[in-house]
Amino acid sequence: MNSPAMKGLSLSTPAYVKNARLIAWVADMVALCKPERLHWCDGSQAEYDALCAQLVQAGTFKRLNATKRPGSFLAWSDPSDVARVEDRTFICTPEKDDAGPTNNWVHPSEMRALFQHGKDGNKALFDGCMAGRTMYVVPFSMGPLGSPIAHIGIELSDSAYVAVNMKIMTRMGRAVYDVLGVDGDFVPCVHTVGAPLAAGQIDVAWPCNATKYIVHYPETREIWSYGSGYGGNALLGKKCFALRIASSMGRAAAQEDGVGWLAEHMLILGVTNPQGKKYHVAAAFPSACGKTNFAMLIPPQGFDGWKVTTIGDDIAWIKPGADGRLYAINPEAGYFGVAPGTNTLTNPNCMASLQRDTIFTNVALTDDGDVWWEGMGDAPAHCIDWQGRDWTPDIARESGGKAAHPNARFTVAATLNPALDAAWDDPAGVAIDAFIFGGRRSTTVPLVTEARNWTEGVYMAATMGSETTAAAGGQQGVVRRDPFAMLPFCGYNMSDYFSHWLRLGDWLAARGAKMPRIYTTNWFRKGADGKFVWPGYGENMRVLKWMIDRIEGSAPGQANVFGVTPRYAELNWTGLEFSEAQFESVTSIDKTAWAAEMGLHAELFRQLSNRLPPVLEATRQGIAQQIAA
Ligand code: GTP
Ligand code: SPV
Ligand code: MN
Repeated sequence: MNSPAMKGLSLSTPAYVKNARLIAWVADMVALCKPERLHWCDGSQAEYDALCAQLVQAGTFKRLNATKRPGSFLAWSDPSDVARVEDRTFICTPEKDDAGPTNNWVHPSEMRALFQHGKDGNKALFDGCMAGRTMYVVPFSMGPLGSPIAHIGIELSDSAYVAVNMKIMTRMGRAVYDVLGVDGDFVPCVHTVGAPLAAGQIDVAWPCNATKYIVHYPETREIWSYGSGYGGNALLGKKCFALRIASSMGRAAAQEDGVGWLAEHMLILGVTNPQGKKYHVAAAFPSACGKTNFAMLIPPQGFDGWKVTTIGDDIAWIKPGADGRLYAINPEAGYFGVAPGTNTLTNPNCMASLQRDTIFTNVALTDDGDVWWEGMGDAPAHCIDWQGRDWTPDIARESGGKAAHPNARFTVAATLNPALDAAWDDPAGVAIDAFIFGGRRSTTVPLVTEARNWTEGVYMAATMGSETTAAAGGQQGVVRRDPFAMLPFCGYNMSDYFSHWLRLGDWLAARGAKMPRIYTTNWFRKGADGKFVWPGYGENMRVLKWMIDRIEGSAPGQANVFGVTPRYAELNWTGLEFSEAQFESVTSIDKTAWAAEMGLHAELFRQLSNRLPPVLEATRQGIAQQIAA
């Protein structure tokens, strides 16, 4: 026997941890993973500071210049561990069809054999995976602590980097145990970098394993992650819990109450007009397609008295209220945002958020101990790139090498955002007036379209295409269908997910509720010169205002095969030089391109045909006929 108890590792459960299932599970996981030490995180500032100091000691963190970037650190990951790994992400349901054709699937018993029990005479992957390391017990709440819409998770991780990031990204710490009590429910999340240390072995700055698995068991609501220390692969409250597991929980809840709830890859913002009337918008854009930027938007010239405030920048949990409206909360407490492209002109609120107490990952280190990334502003004469190599503008010109990895990110508390909405952690959430679905498309898709009804909106969201980005491994810039910006994040069958949205629409309509409007946008159309035509960022306010005008009935728009689009004169152009010809070039609809696009919709529907709601196929045929006419 080689149990940790026999080696002397005591569970040393703190007195405030009283949940029997939790204590038993930690004991089991200690026995399986065989860490050398066990650390129950209390979430205190002292603990955070001590773990950061330890990460500096280990070489994982560099402390940044205390004057320029107080309380901030820089981590460089292993070059093989820089983004989400979609091809290594699994939804393990007993029936393959319940994961659906867009998810990787393995039967739970097979995955458990591989991970926990051993398979084909091989040792289980998690057996001894934390040898020589500390197992951190990270208690966290997604959503305000104790709120009826919040859910608790416990992440066991052998990465101190994960523990400190979780402190920023979630409500993490001791108070979670008070909510959990003796028999409260939690989602168990096991994470290992998959790099056990032999006795005396010197650790590397960023341990990880070439083999990676990001595994979800929706039935038993468990998450198991192996081999990566980066982002959504390792901070399990985010994509794994708040999207994949939560989306499946929201749908399962419909079995109880006939409607359930939604977990969506959406920012949530408040927009207040000069008269003080406030609207709330939830917008789904695929990874690295503009959610954080849109959520922190500062209205441009010509919008005096307008104000945009941030509720969330990445994930929304949305529930129907008794009044028949949809209420959204941000389950997170921090932002894990894309650094490259962020600067004081395009996103001043974000830059202000990053002035202190920020963890940067995979950006460049300047000679004065600060950070830099492509698109931040003037390039330094010299810096150290994210792989620890000298970088100068000359070297970059010759080698094409980037100072920051394109998926370099910052981790920062929401409370440091100067545009944070006063209701950002209100357990009641905010009532949604409009949904936006926006892809990154250099051609074909117009700037903005309003769906004429819920079904058409669901169709537009379901068939959305977007060019792939550096947020996930694999080829970049390839157009793929990304339904609802949820392709990598839906924890169950995508066709069932469409049905869930359609049923929600029926439920709201049956209550005579004012339905949220549904829009699609594309900020990313390019001209012949390869440059973005639409100025984007703060200028997206012009489109947002048009949406509000539509809600207020003050913008007639024009009918179009896909819905309603704005006339040039319906957008406020004060303060921006943007000609009617330029407008035409971001709003025109090319019938040949759209015939091809409809072919891609058909291809998606063929892939999803098994459980596809018939009304979506009927909608497709209607639009295809209009395009052909
Ligand atoms: P995830 O955190 O991966 O989910 O990304 P996100 O959707 O929050 O995207 P984010 O706002 O971080 O933007 C990603 C990249 O797109 C950054 O490089 C931005 O500078 C760029 N970007 C954001 N909004 C716009 C826009 O309106 N126009 C253009 N051209 N680029 C934009
Ligand atoms: C995304 O990829 O959509 C992200 C970053 O928000 S990660 O947390 O790594 O998933
Ligand atoms: Mn995201």
